[in-house]
Amino acid sequence: MSQLEQKLKKQFATRSSTFDDSANWITDKNLIRVHMNLAGKPRGKALDLCCGTGRIGRALLSKGWDVEGLDICGSMAGISSRYFPVSEGSAEKMPFESKSFHLLICRQTFQFLNTARVLSEISRVLVPDGVFIVSLTVPFSDDDRDWLSNIHRCKQPLLLKFYTAEDLMADLARSGFEITANRTCVVRESVNRWMEYAPELSQSVRDSVVSMVKNAPPSYKKKRHVEVVDGEVLEDWNWIVLKTVLSKKNKV
Ligand SMILES: C[S@@+](CC[C@H](N)C(=O)[O-])C[C@H]1O[C@@H](n2cnc3c(N)ncnc32)[C@H](O)[C@@H]1O
Repeated sequence: MSQLEQKLKKQFATRSSTFDDSANWITDKNLIRVHMNLAGKPRGKALDLCCGTGRIGRALLSKGWDVEGLDICGSMAGISSRYFPVSEGSAEKMPFESKSFHLLICRQTFQFLNTARVLSEISRVLVPDGVFIVSLTVPFSDDDRDWLSNIHRCKQPLLLKFYTAEDLMADLARSGFEITANRTCVVRESVNRWMEYAPELSQSVRDSVVSMVKNAPPSYKKKRHVEVVDGEVLEDWNWIVLKTVLSKKNKV
């Protein structure tokens, strides 16, 4: 396991028991519905990749998919495995046979991963006509991009890459994935709550993140509808959800 993976495993272990309360997006019905609509009718085995507490896997299960999960963090896997079988391991070296899954979904984890390696593993474990759905919070536009990047780098020292929607699409294309559907979704978040549930950070870093949003440049605040309500800093987060298939030349 790489050093980064060891650190991520440790960080998420401290957050697993309160993870679902740490941000609205984790349980947001609309965001989950967007993923389920793209997944379509159940047609076999699905993998909730980097499943955390398994919110995506649980939704797939309720739609009739035969679900498994994979997460590097044992305590996250301990929670999701109450609902479906979960393996503990790395997305960069998946403990699965080739052509095992009809569907893979990976929500909000690509920023921590060596995506070239993970996408190569995804193409290995997907059946040839399988579907891969990936989603991330990304900037809305150039108006919030640079300041959001500063915020994310301050909040998450383990961030490997700050993604824009264009970067994500380029990474997918480079690894032979073709985008067949592209959805966006907005989820309103409390920055104070986000920080309250980040025990790995010092109080001064948590305060800095709240202050960076509260005192952001005007273009950022306008784009993300930043407002302070009863002392709580609220803003919109922009989600991109992409449905992909292996391009013809990349099928094994
Ligand atoms: C931000 S959480 C997202 C959880 C889940 N995908 C969701 O949307 O609710 C990221 C998850 O990825 C897991 N993770 C991070 N790096 C990983 C890796 N290299 N392999 C497998 N899981 C990883 C973490 O343990 C954590 O549970």
